[in-house]
Amino acid sequence: MTDELPPAPPRWRPLLPFLGIAAVVGGLAAALAWTAGWLTPARMTAPRLVDTIENGKPFVGFRRAHARGVCVAGYFEPTAEGATLSAARVFTQPRTPALGRLSVGGGDPNGPEAMARVRSLALQLDTDDGQQWRLAMNSFPFFAVSTPEAFAEQILASRPDPATGKPDPAKQQAFVARHPEVANFMAWAQSAPWSDSFANTAYQGIHAFRFTNAAGEARFVRWSFVPQAPFRALAPEQRQAAEASYLADELATRLARGPVRWTLAVTLAEDGDPIEDPSQPWPEARPRVDAGTFVLERAYPEAEGNCRDINFDPTLLPTGIAASGDPVLAARAAAYAVSFNRRQRERAAGEAH
Ligand code: HEM
Repeated sequence: MTDELPPAPPRWRPLLPFLGIAAVVGGLAAALAWTAGWLTPARMTAPRLVDTIENGKPFVGFRRAHARGVCVAGYFEPTAEGATLSAARVFTQPRTPALGRLSVGGGDPNGPEAMARVRSLALQLDTDDGQQWRLAMNSFPFFAVSTPEAFAEQILASRPDPATGKPDPAKQQAFVARHPEVANFMAWAQSAPWSDSFANTAYQGIHAFRFTNAAGEARFVRWSFVPQAPFRALAPEQRQAAEASYLADELATRLARGPVRWTLAVTLAEDGDPIEDPSQPWPEARPRVDAGTFVLERAYPEAEGNCRDINFDPTLLPTGIAASGDPVLAARAAAYAVSFNRRQRERAAGEAH
């Protein structure tokens, strides 16, 4: 027996359980910081991509891209050939209701429609098996670049120089030198004719997707919505003189005379075609299957609860259609979620103007 007292516990021992919690919380915070890209400044993340598009001047409450648009509704009717390619119900259900949005590129919800080089069609097809196919397509036939990082670079290189109000030619040249793949897109932007309507514009899915049919046969495809309305040109002086709502007004006048149609044209890849690079067109000779018709019956302004509040995420796909490994496609899903969250939060807070 001894009178000696046992050694006093270290003063920090009572803190041990808290240190454990702190370690867990710290670990989680580090994981979050890594995911968000804070620890790797060069890494492109969805919030960074959307920040780059916003350029510090978001149009609060609106889509951060394709902000100006109208809601549309109609239906999709498949051909028998569609079902030979994909087991998606949309190719066997006689008629699938479609809700969508026609829009123009750019972040300004009040920008003049006739001046926009890029027009877009987004759709949500709801089939009776409870599945959905969301599509978001543009009027250009291929994307300008191969990766989301290059897309962010392109936005930065195209920003107006505060001194001149125009993009800095040196920055643009440097961007083109780093990304020669942009030549295809530039040629399209400079030479493709402008049509005078949303209705006689072709909308392209751009990315490759994998179609699998009922027999389990899979192949990569790209799709386009090819207008059945005949092409009519919109001359530069008409574009300048047009009302801001020119395309929406023209569509309303046209729909008063009857529905507008597009053919869903599915192009089949062959071995060696670029699957994960949306900037590279496939050879013209690839087989094309007409898989159905989209019939647009109505157009109406965006409002609470309609197409305005949908995220047309192009990776939301039914059984029978799967995403490819295209990094731009994956980045779109992430960026649209960020844009959607920001605009919906702003609207809920009553900040939209
Ligand atoms: C990395 C590349 C891209 C980025 C970062 C991007 C970004 C965005 C963002 C932030 C939105 C707004 C989403 C929302 O708030 O709901 C949007 C809309 C849209 N984008 Fe993209 N985009 C990209 C590539 C593309 C491509 C390749 C296409 C065409 C195939 C496309 C077609 C569209 C369309 C049609 C809309 C409007 C959809 C609607 O009406 O809701 N985008 N984009």
